[in-house]
Amino acid sequence: MLEKIKNIHAELEAAVAEDAAAVEALRIKYLSKKGAIPALMNDFRNVDPSQKRELGQALNELKTYAAERINALREAAERGADKGSEIDLTRTPAPLNIGTRHPLSLVREQIIDIFRRLGFTIAEGPEIEDDWHVFESLNFAPDHPARDMQDTFFINRNPDVLLRTHTSSVQTRVMTSQKPPIRIICPGRVYRNEAISARAHCFFHQVEALYVDKNVTYSDLRQTLLYFAREMFGPETRIRLRPSYFPFTEPSAEMDISCNLCGGNGCSFCKGTGWVEILGCGMVDPAVLESCGIDSKEYTGFALGMGIERITNLKYQVKDLRLFSENDKRFLDEFVAAH
Ligand code: DAH
Repeated sequence: MLEKIKNIHAELEAAVAEDAAAVEALRIKYLSKKGAIPALMNDFRNVDPSQKRELGQALNELKTYAAERINALREAAERGADKGSEIDLTRTPAPLNIGTRHPLSLVREQIIDIFRRLGFTIAEGPEIEDDWHVFESLNFAPDHPARDMQDTFFINRNPDVLLRTHTSSVQTRVMTSQKPPIRIICPGRVYRNEAISARAHCFFHQVEALYVDKNVTYSDLRQTLLYFAREMFGPETRIRLRPSYFPFTEPSAEMDISCNLCGGNGCSFCKGTGWVEILGCGMVDPAVLESCGIDSKEYTGFALGMGIERITNLKYQVKDLRLFSENDKRFLDEFVAAH
């Protein structure tokens, strides 16, 4: 009998019950009238009187232990069930902290959107390029400083494989694969071998636009630029074109807009001039058209290129270029309102 008592004790010790029904099953098995412990009580009547003292004590202890153990299991099961009820499924959830769009993406989309309304479609090209697409086809002289390692990241020399220094390379990719009329806008990342500072970075972003067709003139370029400037910086914006030089355009110009902070009156941002420079542009040099197999007697074109960082700085007065690539959430969160 002592053996049986020990076994039941061990069974109870090891018993687990996940819910109230399992606890009740244990109670019935051990403590109900027909359960194992009352059955032992019954048998107790027949044990030898010499053993009664010892077995009686063990049996009583088992009964107490069984009652305590089953109570403890019941409480644990109830606590488990309670946990579920702590979750209020009808409560309004806390708002999700969703990310913000990167300021450069916001501005890139705005630029693309403005040109899209003028019929420009997006074209893209590779960031790893060859000398022909980045320099030679665009009329860069063999000794042009951009072809120097100090300005350009080369992956290989002879044959030259390099990281494109401007998105003008997409112009020649498109002109060699499509026939005019061509009206494209090329957003993308470009690389230059510059020391990183508040005002320069080794990579940044540009948008290039190219329009090649019969009878494309300088006034088309000027009107496109005026439309872009006013859509981007507001209807009061004025533009001015200053003569400049780029190997791939002739004539070439740089465009200023009336300072969008002071309206052109002169402030510290525009260094008192009332104007800020925003892009380079010009009529596609006939030599560039010819190098891409386009008859320059039949077709003319204009091109323009701008830095997305520059436009973003002007729109949002970002003073340090490095902020764009540091992933500082405090900086990025400032653009929630700009959605
Ligand atoms: N590729 C020039 C640069 O990276 C920008 C540029 C200037 C693009 C004049 C043009 C252009 O298409 O006509 O500085």
